[in-house]
Amino acid sequence: MNHRHTPGRRAIGAAAVLAAGALALAGCAGEGAGSSSSAASGQSGAAASSDITVGVAMPTQTSERWIADGNAVKEGLEAAGYKVDLQYANDDIPTQTQQIDQMITNGADILVIASIDGTALSSQLDAAGAANIPVVSYDRLIRDNENVDFYVSFDNYKVGVAQATALLYGLGLTDQDGKELDGRPTGPLNIELFAGSPDDNNAGFFFDGAMDTLKPYIDDGTLVVKSGQTAFDTVATLRWSQEAAQKRMEDLLTSTYGGGSEDLAGVLSPFDGISRGVITALQGAGYGPTLKEGLPVVTGQDAEIASVKLINDGVQQSTIFKDTRTLATQAVEVVKAIASGQEPEANDTTTYDNGVKVVPSYLLEVETIYADNIQQKIIDSGYYTEDEVKAGVAEGK
Ligand code: BGC
Repeated sequence: MNHRHTPGRRAIGAAAVLAAGALALAGCAGEGAGSSSSAASGQSGAAASSDITVGVAMPTQTSERWIADGNAVKEGLEAAGYKVDLQYANDDIPTQTQQIDQMITNGADILVIASIDGTALSSQLDAAGAANIPVVSYDRLIRDNENVDFYVSFDNYKVGVAQATALLYGLGLTDQDGKELDGRPTGPLNIELFAGSPDDNNAGFFFDGAMDTLKPYIDDGTLVVKSGQTAFDTVATLRWSQEAAQKRMEDLLTSTYGGGSEDLAGVLSPFDGISRGVITALQGAGYGPTLKEGLPVVTGQDAEIASVKLINDGVQQSTIFKDTRTLATQAVEVVKAIASGQEPEANDTTTYDNGVKVVPSYLLEVETIYADNIQQKIIDSGYYTEDEVKAGVAEGK
């Protein structure tokens, strides 16, 4: 469609003018097609979806979940007839800002963005706002800018609660639902804490959910963070780096656990990559190698295949399963609503304040995966095949 190069072309209206958006697009499509006056004057309703390009910016391909997200969003949008410009930024902020600038220059009509640093996209969002290009914040909230129209994610606070609950369950303190068990250990049980990337808005939600859940047990002395490192900034892991997590765990073992000779019961980990770094450090210091053989309980997130395999093998204790297929489907629904000039359906309009405004959100539920429910939740649902879990071969899921 040559409408992309039409001078003065405008894209779909942002939130405030959503209703006008379909008309703008219809007019836009009409120009390129040289079609009837009713289309050109915007009376025919929404433009054909094939006239709409959606720019999809994803953070990195080093973690499987983002590859799965990117693929699923692209497939869903293409199935609905949209053109898709999907880009990965290698966890590099300048790469992502440049990719989004390029999408805008190339005439994207809607942007779907999973940011690397949620505070680093202001000039891109200003440009999108100026061009009336709606922005959907995908999984991670983009902060400090008013041009964020909608947020699709999982319930991030509940992810943290689920991670801490898995830890409590693994330590024999509660059942899988967080209900305290009779005859539970009174401790003290030593634990250590890891949080995610400080520039990712989700990381704080995960940590808050986890700490609110662990706090009563820390307060009554059942759990002891022996290093004393409990502040978010101290335990955060820039860019969710597996290597940085392994190094920090090694340092903790040296400084606080006699190099591996002292008891460590569990480690709160917010992401499977971090979990694997932590496990490598623990095994290297002589713990385990499996849970049965005394490896500390290590939690996780994302159900990455390498971690699902470790869970199946009795090494990593748990992960939080965020079904990227459902998030992608939700994002596609949001794009469809915006493209047809409607308000996307929100199920949370209070929680996600990005510093400038509360962004209407649609939040999905998560599930905790243990060795005993991999079959039911992961394999039977078709997320991974049994062969993938047994062989640990990733196929972009
Ligand atoms: C996502 C998590 C993911 C993490 C690291 C977060 O923003 O919500 O699912 O584990 O980024 O990629």
